[in-house]
Amino acid sequence: MLPKRGIWARADEILVTLGSQNALYLLASLLMARGVRVGVENPGFRDAASIFDIHGAKVHLQDVDDQGLVVDRRLDDCQYLYVTPGHQVPTGVAMSTARREQLLRQIREHDQVLIEDDYDAEFNLDNHPLPALKASDSSGRVIYLSSLSKAFSPGLRIGYMVADAELIDELRALRRLMYRHPPLNNQRMLADFLAQGHYDAHLRRFREEHCRRRELLYQALRSDLSDCQPMGSPGASACWLAAPAGIDTQRLAWAAAQQSVLIESGAQFFLGDGEAPKNFMRLGFHAIDAERIRPGVQKLGEVL
Ligand SMILES: Cc1ncc(COP(=O)(O)O)c(C=O)c1O
Repeated sequence: MLPKRGIWARADEILVTLGSQNALYLLASLLMARGVRVGVENPGFRDAASIFDIHGAKVHLQDVDDQGLVVDRRLDDCQYLYVTPGHQVPTGVAMSTARREQLLRQIREHDQVLIEDDYDAEFNLDNHPLPALKASDSSGRVIYLSSLSKAFSPGLRIGYMVADAELIDELRALRRLMYRHPPLNNQRMLADFLAQGHYDAHLRRFREEHCRRRELLYQALRSDLSDCQPMGSPGASACWLAAPAGIDTQRLAWAAAQQSVLIESGAQFFLGDGEAPKNFMRLGFHAIDAERIRPGVQKLGEVL
């Protein structure tokens, strides 16, 4: 899995976790404390910000644009930066090469550590996804995490983290105090599944089917929801949409649910105390059969 993302790591640089969320919690328990400042994307993954917050860190919210996290002087006094460069959550923006270089320069020049959450590593639908940031990290400043949740099974609770051996050693000791280790039967089953080539076959089928669903979703959006603007990369695992100004997607989500159409209002991804824009939403397409996508979007268009 790691070489596919351009990462070559020794066994003592890898920790198996109970998923990316667990990796974030382990990291926060070890590294965060009152006075530590961590930069987080806004809009962004609320659970990460909450995990850092409950460990006492000061969470700095940094804007995102069409190239990913905005890198500027506001980040300078953060000790840690948390980013989702593969596809930014929730906008789906794939961080540009220029921004990646800028970000890596930033962490070198300001003695910072970057936490790269490559949550959809195994399941990136972009044709030629860029390697992980960790692949270009010659300074040992990038902590990489991912999991099998998106492409295989979120219920399995298996993830992995790559970092300096010294840090992994500390995290392993902490993991031992928390739950000793992820269940060995799951690890063994997965190791066999990988070694026998079933996982790659699964990924191939999964990719084909999900590219088909994505195509159907984008076709339906063009024909039945043309007032809404898809944003981010179409290779992302969900579609981030801007509805016309004045539409409250929380209300829309309620109304659509009455028609058995489930969408996610974007408001929950806007962190901080300011008033969140109300007109964004996120549509998933992985857990829905292909033939139900078009009728669902049609109903959403009617409700809108
Ligand atoms: C950006 C991001 N990171 C981490 C997670 C947690 O994933 P896992 O199931 O690997 O714990 C999620 C879940 O949706 C996510 O969106």
